[in-house]
Amino acid sequence: MRTPITEKINRLKIKRNAVILAHNYQEAEVQDLADFTGDSLELSRKAAQTQADVIVFCGVKFMAETAAILSPGKTVLIPDRHAGCPLSDMITAKQLIELKSKHPEAVVVCYVNSSAAVKAESDYCCTSANAVEIVNSIEPGKEIIFVPDQHLGRFVVEKTGRDMILWPGYCVTHAAITEDDVKQARAAHPGAIVMAHPDCTDPVKAICDQILSTGQMLKFALNSDAKSFITATETGIIHSLKKQNLGKEFFAASERAVCPNMKRITVEKVLWSLEDMNYKITVPEQIRIRAKNALDRMVAILPAK
Ligand code: 13P
Repeated sequence: MRTPITEKINRLKIKRNAVILAHNYQEAEVQDLADFTGDSLELSRKAAQTQADVIVFCGVKFMAETAAILSPGKTVLIPDRHAGCPLSDMITAKQLIELKSKHPEAVVVCYVNSSAAVKAESDYCCTSANAVEIVNSIEPGKEIIFVPDQHLGRFVVEKTGRDMILWPGYCVTHAAITEDDVKQARAAHPGAIVMAHPDCTDPVKAICDQILSTGQMLKFALNSDAKSFITATETGIIHSLKKQNLGKEFFAASERAVCPNMKRITVEKVLWSLEDMNYKITVPEQIRIRAKNALDRMVAILPAK
């Protein structure tokens, strides 16, 4: 009889002293396999705190890179080396250096959806869950550059009243969700609460009920008395929402909101990753130290968890 794949993975996890972290956008089977699932911020925290020797990161490359920056000495693996993030590729360190040279006094805040080299050129990192708090912590009157997501950036400008210099990047998956999608979903599910990710476009955010990171969506749905919800974000979140909220209903605003990079990770690839110890994510030490400063400043502003 063949050994079920999850059993093989569990044996290898013990042998390698490995932990499996999965982002909320992963395939349902990958989320179910993981030791921890969460949003970018929660997974960064887990990566920094874990006692494991090996972190198998089921997400996209910038997330695995963040784990490698925070956990030197640990082996960080990504099960598919092509799981990139088009948003993070929309700005290079060279472009950021050029922008900084035009605004030498500016404080640079970068979304965690960025390369290690861009983080190294930034003063603060942030995630969608804490971008408002990070920007609010910056001395009033200071010029601020925010990269690379213009939609998250505009949301932060609106919430904080700070006038920031925005980079014109965007998440292709969130940009695919339209205002019409939300209106049609509302018509199909009257009374449902619409939760949109801050990476969504302005017209979508303008007609939603709540603007939340993926981790915040999970908390909101759990604590809400409402029985039905529409999500304007990557469809992978629906799995955890349903699992944690039996008796409540969840609908995707758009079935097109599927991140092809997140979906590159499969259960088989997680097994091969642990068997072959592939694909290792490493960050050159000079970049890692500077990038870690930006991440450490983010963590220092937030209440300890
Ligand atoms: P969260 O931090 O809300 O999980 O978002 C991750 C992401 O990549 C959004 O595009």
